[in-house]
Amino acid sequence: IDDHFNDKPLKGQHWLITAGPTVEPIDPVRYLANRSSGKMGFAIAEAAARAGAEVTLVTGPVNLTVSGSIKRIDVQTAQQMFEAVQSQFKGVDTFVACAAVSDYRPKVAAQQKLKKQSDDGLTIELTQNPDILRWAAEQNTAFCVGFAAETNNIEEYAEAKMTKKGINVICANDVSRKDIGFSSDNNEVSVYYKKDGALQVQQLGPALKSVIAHQLVNFLPGIK
Ligand code: CTP
Ligand code: CA
Repeated sequence: IDDHFNDKPLKGQHWLITAGPTVEPIDPVRYLANRSSGKMGFAIAEAAARAGAEVTLVTGPVNLTVSGSIKRIDVQTAQQMFEAVQSQFKGVDTFVACAAVSDYRPKVAAQQKLKKQSDDGLTIELTQNPDILRWAAEQNTAFCVGFAAETNNIEEYAEAKMTKKGINVICANDVSRKDIGFSSDNNEVSVYYKKDGALQVQQLGPALKSVIAHQLVNFLPGIK
């Protein structure tokens, strides 16, 4: 993998990237979320910008900052992330869904803090969130890249997800490993894509997320 960005290979391209977790309110003080740090998505945004792309980054709540040239849109919920992606999608060449979008949200977010009731447990009814990546792929206007955090059967699930969502590429990582993924600065991903109908895989890392991002931004245009 060649990695020289001096000639701005993505000049004239528009990349839209989602990053971080989504946060789904239960009541004014409680929420449903996940352990995504946003580091991988932010690293991809930085790498694409360094390679000359116009970059829009839609992110859930994270403790990260980005370079001034990146257009950053902060959101909380999956629904807000979906609306932000829809509003920014026109003219996008490459969509990279790196966010850990909550699959479900509480059906109702209580307006007031829930009080403990009796000595019993509590059941919170959940409803499914929209699939942002699937919507993006359905538009048929952008090259769509997904991420999948899996604990087992990585290749099988990766291929199934590509088909189910109608996307071009899936970057899978093994979250059963303690040394990489989520809040770590390091990652190792298997990039699955199809060439003449056959499943191909390119391994990236183990390396710093910034290095993986740089390699990915170099690699993707070649398989578009
Ligand atoms: N994704 C999305 N919107 C959702 C759920 C997922 O855009 N509502 C995107 C993620 O950003 C990721 C990809 O879809 O790029 C795969 O997410 P994943 O959670 O692995 O897939 P799911 O279809 O939700 O399957 P499951 O959680 O059951 O493994
Ligand atoms: Ca999911």
